[in-house]
Amino acid sequence: MTTIKAGVIGLGYIAPVHMAALRALGDVEVLAVAGARPGSARAKADQLGVPRAHDDWRDLVADPQVQVVHNCTPNFMHHAINLAAIRAGKHIVSEKPLALDAPQATELLRAVRKAGVVHAVCFKNRMLPLAREVRSRVARGDIGPVYLIHGTYLQDWLLHDTDYNWRVDPALGGVSRTVADIGSHWLDLAQFISGLQITQVCADLATFVPTRRKPSVHVEAFAHAEPGAGADTPVTVDTEDCGLVLFRFDNGARGACVLAQVCAGRKNRFVLELNGAGGSLAWDLERPNELWLGHRDRPNDTWTARAHDADDPDPFVDLFRPVYAAVRAGHMPADPTWPTFEAGYQSNVLVDAIVQSAREQRWVSSRPVE
Ligand SMILES: NC(=O)c1ccc[n+]([C@@H]2O[C@H](COP(=O)([O-])OP(=O)(O)OC[C@H]3O[C@@H](n4cnc5c(N)ncnc54)[C@H](O)[C@@H]3O)[C@@H](O)[C@H]2O)c1
Repeated sequence: MTTIKAGVIGLGYIAPVHMAALRALGDVEVLAVAGARPGSARAKADQLGVPRAHDDWRDLVADPQVQVVHNCTPNFMHHAINLAAIRAGKHIVSEKPLALDAPQATELLRAVRKAGVVHAVCFKNRMLPLAREVRSRVARGDIGPVYLIHGTYLQDWLLHDTDYNWRVDPALGGVSRTVADIGSHWLDLAQFISGLQITQVCADLATFVPTRRKPSVHVEAFAHAEPGAGADTPVTVDTEDCGLVLFRFDNGARGACVLAQVCAGRKNRFVLELNGAGGSLAWDLERPNELWLGHRDRPNDTWTARAHDADDPDPFVDLFRPVYAAVRAGHMPADPTWPTFEAGYQSNVLVDAIVQSAREQRWVSSRPVE
């Protein structure tokens, strides 16, 4: 079997995760990488054992041997790179958020439909064995009609005013930070596992650290500048440290979530609970293989994923496997099992509605039109 050739653009935190997952598939070669600074791609390519390195992502997109482009750049580059790759006839795997806003995402969704290429957005949590388990339990009516969906996604890596990353800058990350960056994962999963769609939102966004000290040296995501590494500049930040969102779902269910990046001690606390007429399900992603089953008339219990289901620690592998099967087939399947550009577009619509709701202090429709 010939190997499928992939190219990865943006060589920071998440790109090596993509590459490791691609290599785990066995029939994919990471042929080329592209970085932001002259020479940086070559150094990374050597380190990661990749044959071709480009200083400009356009050269990677133009490489006739690259069949699939993985876009692992900061959010502001997603639209331009995704669009160029699609127009060059490449299959495309984009990091989330798909684009900076719904109009950009609409253009990308229309472009993949027109080009007929295979497309994916990395809402990887959908691929966790328990996500599938919860989705099928809800679908077969185990907890009856869903009344409530609620939870949190909390981190602490942006608590201090010395914590800085491109994500805090709206020009690079988008006008929404916490909601678009981590809330988008929570919102996607809440809708995926319940099979419901959020149709209206009422949001309150807050910035608790209005001035941050931007280091003069480049700092990778989730890392910190070494003390004394260089002078830093105070910058005003108005992207949100925290988002509180109320929802209405298309079946009449209600929901709420707390999303924040300034909660000391909470590294990646992702909790989701569904309450239905016939029972509850709750899931804490720090214990990804355990599901809490809540009952009214008998003792509660815990369900644990079977060892062989829980063995695979990398949802990116589970995401890329069906995507690359479609690439080998040359087209999207009728009913893709992974998050596609539709999911990415819907997420951009939802985040835009949340931002608008917070600004205008009212309920806003988040119904996608595409
Ligand atoms: N799906 C997930 O679970 C997940 C997790 C982390 C990050 N992400 C997403 O991945 C993307 C990247 O995040 P990250 O944490 O890896 O950030 P990062 O800052 O660590 O890496 C981004 C890299 O892109 C490079 N870059 C910037 N402009 C470029 C350009 N024009 N051409 C080529 N390279 C360029 C930067 O130099 C940097 O090395 C973001 O959109 C983020 O939302 C997704």
